[in-house]
Amino acid sequence: GDSGPMGHGTIQELEASDESEQPLPIPTPLKPDRVTESAIYYTVVADEGTSRFFQDGKSTETLGYNGDLLGPMLELPKGKTVVIDTINRLDEPTTFHWHGLVIPAEMDGGPHQAVPAGERAQVRLDIDQEPSTLWFHPHPMGSTAEQVYKGLAGLLYVTDDAQSGLPNEYGVDDIPLIVQDRLFTKNGELDYDAHMNVDGTTGDTILANGAVNTTFDVQTETLRVRLVNGSNARDFDFTLSNGEMMTQIATDGGLLERPVPMKTISLTPGERAEVLIDFSQVKDNVALEADGVPFTTFRIGELDKTSIDMPTSETIELSTDEKIDRQLTLFGMGNMVSINGKTYDPDRIDIEAKRGDTEVWEIENKPDMMGGMTHPFHIHGVQFRIISRDGNPPADHEKGWKDTVAVSPDERVKIELTFTETGTFMYHCHILEHEENGMMGQLKVTD
Ligand code: C2O
Ligand code: CU
Repeated sequence: GDSGPMGHGTIQELEASDESEQPLPIPTPLKPDRVTESAIYYTVVADEGTSRFFQDGKSTETLGYNGDLLGPMLELPKGKTVVIDTINRLDEPTTFHWHGLVIPAEMDGGPHQAVPAGERAQVRLDIDQEPSTLWFHPHPMGSTAEQVYKGLAGLLYVTDDAQSGLPNEYGVDDIPLIVQDRLFTKNGELDYDAHMNVDGTTGDTILANGAVNTTFDVQTETLRVRLVNGSNARDFDFTLSNGEMMTQIATDGGLLERPVPMKTISLTPGERAEVLIDFSQVKDNVALEADGVPFTTFRIGELDKTSIDMPTSETIELSTDEKIDRQLTLFGMGNMVSINGKTYDPDRIDIEAKRGDTEVWEIENKPDMMGGMTHPFHIHGVQFRIISRDGNPPADHEKGWKDTVAVSPDERVKIELTFTETGTFMYHCHILEHEENGMMGQLKVTD
């Protein structure tokens, strides 16, 4: 149908004009099938759908979880077991990858856990990590990029009572923003093959939670925004149109050691950031911009007072910058990409590690003769810390748990990670086309 949980039904009622604004869709919190003392049961269905992005009446073939586009928000309370029935109603295999979750590899939904078309699989996830904004998306070898591009992506919120001092009323003072760029054909379709680019398929239209040119009615002095870069390949610099600061409070995997005022929030594909925006002194509407282009307007009405009580996160003692356990070299562009000179081979284990071990990895980005580009480097099954960039300590806004880190051309980034789960995990560039071109390796953690 045309009206999925993303509220696309309302979009059809607007006047015919591409400039029309539309209310920001807020992904529906997924209702559990049942809840017991220790476990929560959900069903997540990958399916085909139709969406309307523009007011000219054209509809677009899309993919979605439990709806036509994107997906619902799954709450994962820390300390609970979450059982998810995953169902694949696509006409090709898919996987259900829980990006950022620290769980055993067999539950992780990487390329080895494909669910064939028409079939289902169950995963059991023991949630034991910091409250954070994670996301889920497909990861089948060869069609990850296209399936994400057509709309498969959903939100995972790891929650905990310990964060009650922050705005946390979902959809009111605590909103998600999945930001993606897309290119539509004249017929309004998302034609992946026509627009495919070996360095990442990008587009001129910015979607926020799957919609174009959105508005959000601000009701409280402080708004918490959870930014997710869900693009295949596009880096975003987020700014406010009034030039004011935002306060970054969290990275990919949890709260920062302390809040950091930021004028620009830069996110590469796969990365997330949580920010607080203070509207208490603001009278006029303010837009959130991606690379200078406004895409979501905050409309200011009567604002309720908010009092923020910032929970503190622990300071983690990191290894000294001297030691390096592994060296990874990200190389190249286009379809000449590799990690340590190799491309992905499902039958080859690239790194073996022991559960409980803490290692320092140095990730280096080595441009080829044609030039270089930033690679967002992502590791499954862990949350890590950045120790240094080119020998310098990370900026304050990077002092938090990360699962994806931007590595610029000629840069060396050191990270510290501790393996707590076993199995064969992926690490890869989160430019989805680079991943498909083999910029991925396998990490096997054993007891
Ligand atoms: Cu978000 Cu291996 O992926
Ligand atoms: Cu890359």
